Amino acid sequence: MTPPILDDDDIALSLGKDMKNKTILITGASQGIGLELTKQLSVHNTVLAVARDQTRLQALANSHGVIALPTDLSNRSRVKALTLNIKTHWPDLSVVFNNAAIQQPLNFLQFWESTKLDTELEVNLHSPIRLCQAMIPLLSSQPESWIVNTTSVLAVCPKQSTPVYNASKAALRLFTQALRYQLRHTSIRVCEVIPPVTNTALGAHHEKQSAASAEWVATQILKQLPKGKPQITIGQARLGMTLHRWLPSLLHNMLIKG
Ligand SMILES: NC(=O)c1ccc[n+]([C@@H]2O[C@H](COP(=O)([O-])OP(=O)(O)OC[C@H]3O[C@@H](n4cnc5c(N)ncnc54)[C@H](OP(=O)(O)O)[C@@H]3O)[C@@H](O)[C@H]2O)c1
Repeated sequence: MTPPILDDDDIALSLGKDMKNKTILITGASQGIGLELTKQLSVHNTVLAVARDQTRLQALANSHGVIALPTDLSNRSRVKALTLNIKTHWPDLSVVFNNAAIQQPLNFLQFWESTKLDTELEVNLHSPIRLCQAMIPLLSSQPESWIVNTTSVLAVCPKQSTPVYNASKAALRLFTQALRYQLRHTSIRVCEVIPPVTNTALGAHHEKQSAASAEWVATQILKQLPKGKPQITIGQARLGMTLHRWLPSLLHNMLIKG
């Protein structure tokens, strides 16, 4: 039988529960939005906190009781080791929060080391996909579980200065949508989070006008997540997505200078 064609709203399911007593993997936990998510989630959950900066993760372990799993997500063998560690020690994992990313200004009229390309794609695109692939067997054994992938308005309308970042987020967005379709008859909910311009280290090369605080963004994400919407668009990102839909040339004209 041909499966029905579902749009995102049809797939929205009421999860009906807050995030409590769960084991949650969150990448990019050492600073920015990921740090604020980690602090808030650690109150009622076991949080496995991933980033490179061991000192920051250890401080978070001391202050908030999270489990620090320092990992360089640009390194495939480290990502594999991370997944094996989780499978062995936390088989009750029920949330994968793919939040880590980097954003590099790359001018294709100038020289830059091609390793930069590899690193950006590994961190922003390959590692979230690999984490999904490796963790789905654990997630599907839970009565209710989540994959949360963080993208950006730049996934639908690019900023000229960060072409690889835009491309990585566009690819992650489509990956997330297709994964949601594949998993729609399982216990795993797949959510895309689109934060607004936020006052963090990411994109610090660029002037950020009226940026939201990371704490506020994390609070909004966690408020909306239990509602089960397939896409959570926060603050001014909502305006960006609305412009993309109805006035794409206006958004394009704004971002072409960015
Ligand atoms: N800030 C914004 O304006 C904005 C807007 C739209 C979307 N977003 C998205 O929101 C998410 C969070 O962004 P943010 O602004 O909070 O970024 P951020 O403050 O720069 O934090 C990025 C996090 O990713 C980690 N990370 C970077 N490279 C890594 C690597 N190789 N291995 C492991 N971890 C790595 C960093 O930790 P270490 O340095 O310790 O490794 C850090 O914890 C990202 O997906 C971003 O694309 C942000």
